[in-house]
Amino acid sequence: MEKYGETLFALDRDEETRLTLLGEVFDPLCAEMMTGLGIAPDARCLEVGAGSGSVARWLSRQAPNGQVVATDLDVSMLEGAAEPNLVPMVHDVTSDPFPAESFDVIHARLVLSHLPQRDEVLRRMTQWLRPGGFVLIESFCWFPIDSSPNDAYARAMQRWSDLICGTLGTDSWWSRSQPGSFRTYGFAEVGARTLTQNLRGGTALADFWRLTVDMSRERLLAGGYLTEEELTAFYDLLNDGAFWDLAPALVQSWGRK
Ligand SMILES: C[S@@+](CC[C@H](N)C(=O)[O-])C[C@H]1O[C@@H](n2cnc3c(N)ncnc32)[C@H](O)[C@@H]1O
Repeated sequence: MEKYGETLFALDRDEETRLTLLGEVFDPLCAEMMTGLGIAPDARCLEVGAGSGSVARWLSRQAPNGQVVATDLDVSMLEGAAEPNLVPMVHDVTSDPFPAESFDVIHARLVLSHLPQRDEVLRRMTQWLRPGGFVLIESFCWFPIDSSPNDAYARAMQRWSDLICGTLGTDSWWSRSQPGSFRTYGFAEVGARTLTQNLRGGTALADFWRLTVDMSRERLLAGGYLTEEELTAFYDLLNDGAFWDLAPALVQSWGRK
């Protein structure tokens, strides 16, 4: 398997644009969930695979007397963050440690589903949690694509998923059963919700998915996953304000120690 960021999702200007869009579209859903779970002003927080750092910056404002450690393989988008309690850290969650019971809040969005070692990574992450603290995992689930009646949309999304699943070891269906794994960590409380978003062409959500597929354009063409015509038809749909379908769903699952 290839590692995330080696060739697919390499951190260049296009990926920075895509991660910024991701924050614009998905941060309100994440903030709503974490506000409900409760973040103390002095909480110690860990944002795993922080990307653009938008969630880490939000967390640092919720915990002004605490600290937010924002990790990633590449922290260049996190450098220069103005918040004094935000600490960017180069850290590979598949192999690098933290001491046991270091954090009150641990969050990872769209990271673990890309890692073949996801279950072992989640097990280690729960050891970094203090009693009373919570972990929130956010991952896409592909069922709205499987059931789409629009061939051009469904085929491009499905073939893109095939490319990343085959290349990185991503699992686009892990999120369906993942909340069940929390029972093995001795959590006092667990919960999950799945948000299915209506996707309309020309919106920020459509732009996010168009850019996501477009970033792998050369690989999709060279590997015979899609043709130029199929890609063009997909881009046209996602730019068309008359096009409506469902985006991949977002599963948010949490456990409290
Ligand atoms: C799809 S992006 C999501 C970024 C951010 N979590 C968000 O939702 O805005 C996945 C992020 O996980 C990071 N990542 C991938 N593998 C990682 C690893 N082994 N350790 C730490 N971060 C990793 C990537 O560099 C990238 O920033």
